[in-house]
Amino acid sequence: MVDVLLAGPPAELLARRTDDPYPYFRWLRRHAPVFAERKGQGRTIWSVSRYDDVRLLLTDKRLSKNPDLYPGYKPGPAGLNKHLVHADPPEHTRLRRLVNNAFVPRRIAALEPFVAQTAGRLLDQVDPDDGLDLINDFAMPLTFTLICTILGVPEHLNTPAMRTMLANTVVPASGHRTDDELRTFLTVLVADKRDHPAGELDLLGALVGAGDSLTEEELISTAYLLLLVGHDTTVNLIGNGMLALLRHPDQLRALRDDPALIRTGLDELLRYDSPVRDATFRAAAEPILLHDQLIQTGDIVSLLIGSANRDETRFADPDVLDLRRDPNEHLAFGRGPHFCIGAALSKIEGAVAIRMLLERLGDLRLAVPADELRWRPSRVMRGLESLPVVRR
Ligand code: HEM
Repeated sequence: MVDVLLAGPPAELLARRTDDPYPYFRWLRRHAPVFAERKGQGRTIWSVSRYDDVRLLLTDKRLSKNPDLYPGYKPGPAGLNKHLVHADPPEHTRLRRLVNNAFVPRRIAALEPFVAQTAGRLLDQVDPDDGLDLINDFAMPLTFTLICTILGVPEHLNTPAMRTMLANTVVPASGHRTDDELRTFLTVLVADKRDHPAGELDLLGALVGAGDSLTEEELISTAYLLLLVGHDTTVNLIGNGMLALLRHPDQLRALRDDPALIRTGLDELLRYDSPVRDATFRAAAEPILLHDQLIQTGDIVSLLIGSANRDETRFADPDVLDLRRDPNEHLAFGRGPHFCIGAALSKIEGAVAIRMLLERLGDLRLAVPADELRWRPSRVMRGLESLPVVRR
């Protein structure tokens, strides 16, 4: 065992980790379920890959989300980190209650016609015989328009430049981040909300209106978090989901023949190629012994959701896409106190988007060989840069 650990995962699996992480994850589950991935400055980053461990650790109080515990690691753009993802109770409980108010199921379900209308408008503008890019021509503008509407971002601020700015905070295209620009933009946005009272669909307005419950930094950080995770993740659900269907024509045909299959099918797409591949980092607040490995206080722990969702001890034939899989207790939305606030919303967006793509665009195929598709180089998110398709 020690020899295997010292040898580490085979180089060819590591090299393909962004394009196809699943053989690497299988190796980890089998040989090194708690794997010391990188060491430095006296601390280690541990990758945890088995379903049962990931599930338990997602709710383990010995793991903290407080970035003060892991100085040296930059969690996000400066001045924009006072939000849910980087908070433990009691701050987390307070922030979560405020944000949760806007995501009540009744309110989310009422959005379905608006999702369909927005998707319809985008599909009016494309001709599948000429080909289109499902990410940039459809999923990205769809999810971005929706999250801007839910947050109450005025139309003049919902621009491609703003989208690029947000995207650059995750994967800096030019090698430099646009933190100052982004902070200025969010400050203007929040000030705009103060001047213009909240409408029906206006989560930011409601948060601003919550008086002193949130500091200015918390407000701006929460706006950033929701704008970012509120669309990027769902782009990946639509993109990864459509790619999985295009690569499994039998499953695609079954869904076309029986659109109600999307009920179990969406969960299977979330499991099969999970949009959030690794949970956000956690730090050990005290030592944790797991599978003979000692995680020290201050070490960073990465819970590999994408690996847990392919764990053969939990899912029969985990590498098979089966839209009828039921039960399907995947961890694509996390678990416990940090469970995804947008889960219901993104399921509606994903289901409507995929249904309308199949209905409106007919029989699609990939417009490039599958091995030419490029995956975005992110550790947390798993998503395509583009997904060119054309009608058969
Ligand atoms: C398919 C789409 C989505 C997936 C797969 C997804 C996945 C996740 C996961 C795995 C977590 C937990 C991360 C962790 O514990 O480290 C999370 C948290 C979160 N998600 Fe999502 N998400 C999606 C869409 C959305 C949308 C549309 C929104 C907002 C409109 C959203 C808002 C949030 C927020 C605010 C948190 C932090 C919750 C907390 O820390 O208490 N997500 N999401």
